[in-house]
Amino acid sequence: MEYHIVTGASRGVGAALVEQLIGPEATVFAVSRTVSDELVELAADRGGSLRWFPMDLSDPEVVDVLMARIARMVTEEPASRITLIANAAQIEPIGLAGTLSTADIALAARLNLVTPIALTQQFVRLFGDTPVPKRVILISSGAARRVMPGLSVYSATKAGINAFVASAQAEVERPGGPEDLRIYAASPGLVDTGMQETLRETDETALPERENYRAWQEEGTLSTPAEAAGKIRTLFDRDDIQPGSFVHYRDL
Ligand SMILES: NC(=O)c1ccc[n+]([C@@H]2O[C@H](COP(=O)([O-])OP(=O)(O)OC[C@H]3O[C@@H](n4cnc5c(N)ncnc54)[C@H](OP(=O)(O)O)[C@@H]3O)[C@@H](O)[C@H]2O)c1
Repeated sequence: MEYHIVTGASRGVGAALVEQLIGPEATVFAVSRTVSDELVELAADRGGSLRWFPMDLSDPEVVDVLMARIARMVTEEPASRITLIANAAQIEPIGLAGTLSTADIALAARLNLVTPIALTQQFVRLFGDTPVPKRVILISSGAARRVMPGLSVYSATKAGINAFVASAQAEVERPGGPEDLRIYAASPGLVDTGMQETLRETDETALPERENYRAWQEEGTLSTPAEAAGKIRTLFDRDDIQPGSFVHYRDL
């Protein structure tokens, strides 16, 4: 049985990942605040196991209990592969220096950065010794490397993901560390989801380059969630790509 943990599973890239992973040989653990009834129905149709954990991941304190519950379920049938895709994130707060509230900054940092780090820690702790291929993909963004006025907090959280992944991979590679565990930061590229919609609808005083987001949609630059999910999923088997690295959609 393949076991897959996907956060941010209700919409966008995460929902597309879950849709592609559901099947009779897979158990998918989906995490988000809301449950997608369509995905639940799809799992029933395909005879796949989909376990939903409706949780607010902006509170990293939920991670230990969540992962402990998942670990108990992973023992139900022998595992052939275990993966974590930490995909849940938010683009807000959007605004220029001096306009953002500390509470909003902290919330974004918890959801986009602290929770993915905590999920990875628990994944290594709970599954590190399980002798099957293990993959951890933390969803990053080109914003980790680009200067994007109005998105400083989002960019900083994604840059943090890249930095964490590089060190975490070096740690698991040390002698005596877990076998066959690869950790990646992956950018899905520009994807037509609610996140892009939010950017297109934001006032230019908060997001001076807003017209770029509108143009990208009009020019058809955005990929679909299904296309992005399909590329990200290939990382499960791309042993030629350096673990610990930041992988861009176009390189997959
Ligand atoms: N779209 C793009 O162009 C783009 C580009 C680069 C990188 N990315 C990255 O790709 C990933 C997916 O983005 P997306 O565009 O698919 O986003 P999206 O459409 O906004 O979906 C976000 C997902 O995260 C979940 N989520 C948000 N806040 C949450 C919370 N507090 N607790 C639990 N779950 C929460 C949402 O579910 P609920 O609302 O049900 O909780 C939803 O399932 C993100 O990491 C994003 O940074 C996206």
